[in-house]
Amino acid sequence: MSLKLVIMVSGRGSNMKAILEAIEQKELDAQVSLVFSNNAQAPALETAAKYGVQTASISSRGLSRSEHESLVVDLLKKHQFDYIVLAGYMRILSKSFLDHYRDKNGFYRVINIHPSLLPSFPGATGYDDAFNAGVAESGVTVHLVDEEVDHGPILAQWSFMRQAGDSLESFKARGLAIEHILYPRVLQSVARGGIALKDNKIGLVFAVENKEISAR
Ligand code: GRF
Repeated sequence: MSLKLVIMVSGRGSNMKAILEAIEQKELDAQVSLVFSNNAQAPALETAAKYGVQTASISSRGLSRSEHESLVVDLLKKHQFDYIVLAGYMRILSKSFLDHYRDKNGFYRVINIHPSLLPSFPGATGYDDAFNAGVAESGVTVHLVDEEVDHGPILAQWSFMRQAGDSLESFKARGLAIEHILYPRVLQSVARGGIALKDNKIGLVFAVENKEISAR
């Protein structure tokens, strides 16, 4: 089926752009109903508009989490979507927000991409933390969101090796290039087959070979 998505962003929006590009290239069978940001200045909003996608923002400044989230829920009621796709959305979503978006199996219809091999290095600085810890291998995780931060059923992971002479920048660039390939592919896998349940658990819907790709 063609997936209907709301993408939530806070900043640069390179993952959002990769998703919009994959849709344009017909590699991803999806439509984006709305790109939403908590930050009206997010460069992602301008990029989304260039792709002809509707955008909206509601600042969280001066609002409690629940006040902000209830405005977002009201806004999202005006749009049809199967999944909320988090692409660098820098706010934690509460259980009461997530409860609006449960699927028939009880999972939240909210997908996130995180720049580490979860459960290692959750939090806002996944690449920095993995790099500074001196790992030999790191990676990227796409997962369903649950009540805990950077947690929830893993849909796909793709690892990459730290290379001799890597700087934090080259390490991040290698990871980000993988993100841009992985996220649209996972979404396409969801568009094709939904999110499969096995023994009442979600398994990897998508496995990628551990092969090196070069940063673009
Ligand atoms: C990405 O590294 C993503 O994994 C993380 O936040 C960053 C967002 O980058 N959740 P961008 O806005 O998609 O360029």
